[in-house]
Amino acid sequence: MIDLHINGKKHQVEAEPNELLVWVIREKIGLTATKFGCGIEMCGACKVLIDGEITRSCVTNLSEVAGKQIFTKEGLPEEHPLNSH
Ligand code: FES
Repeated sequence: MIDLHINGKKHQVEAEPNELLVWVIREKIGLTATKFGCGIEMCGACKVLIDGEITRSCVTNLSEVAGKQIFTKEGLPEEHPLNSH
């Protein structure tokens, strides 16, 4: 089990440390506003906020985000840059 803090809530997920954050957010947490596009840091469809920094979740392993504050588009105000496109 890995503890994740997403949109202000704590989630315990059954996952391996090397799993990609984008798939855990979408498939295990069910927050589908985070999309998988290119998978190679080019398109930005997978962007989330991690400890205040815009980060591409398609290249981010769970082990990198344990204990950090993660926000997806669902947890951010409409005017936030992540929600602007
Ligand atoms: S899926 Fe394209 S940048 Fe992550």
